[in-house]
Amino acid sequence: MNPTKKSGRLAVGLLLGLLAIEANAHGDVTPHPVDTSSLKPVGKEWVFPNPYRGNEKAAAVGATGYLHNCAGCHGLNAITGGVAPDLLKMNQECLGMAAKEQQASCLKDGDEYFKDITLHGKKTADGRYTMPAYDEVFTQEAVWAIRAYIDARSMEEMKK
Ligand code: HEC
Repeated sequence: MNPTKKSGRLAVGLLLGLLAIEANAHGDVTPHPVDTSSLKPVGKEWVFPNPYRGNEKAAAVGATGYLHNCAGCHGLNAITGGVAPDLLKMNQECLGMAAKEQQASCLKDGDEYFKDITLHGKKTADGRYTMPAYDEVFTQEAVWAIRAYIDARSMEEMKK
């Protein structure tokens, strides 16, 4: 093959890749369903606190869901690049509480908050979405799997 042609193609490929990252960083993301078929179903009625808390399999499923839906704004591995709030911080406040009862109640409140924002997204006063709503594509299982992943990441970072 002609070497100039080959490197030309490589450059185009690189450019397209960069454009995709750029689009993500600016929030042009369509919600993608999360395949939770490997997890025990929770059902339609909302359950609090997160029934998948501490469930490693759910956290792994949530990691994929997070990567496809949230990482573009909230950062790879849930480490924010500043485009959107740090999702680890909220959990770390709860996880740092010494009293178990207080910690459980803090995490449960966090679960409700997380579910509401994930399903409904966030809008500015003039109705522009700063974060998309996921209620059309996410099941309860998807929300809790992603939350379980963020829990696991929060704990990992705290151990460092
Ligand atoms: C288009 C970018 C974008 C995407 C994609 C996105 N978010 Fe957000 N998210 C934001 C922004 C911006 C805010 C802050 C909005 C505000 O406070 O007005 C936010 C806020 C939040 C908050 C509240 C954080 C806090 O400290 O109060 C949670 C929880 C959250 N997002 C979860 C998620 C989850 C889970 C996903 C993926 C399913 C996701 N977000 C996808 C941009 C995004």
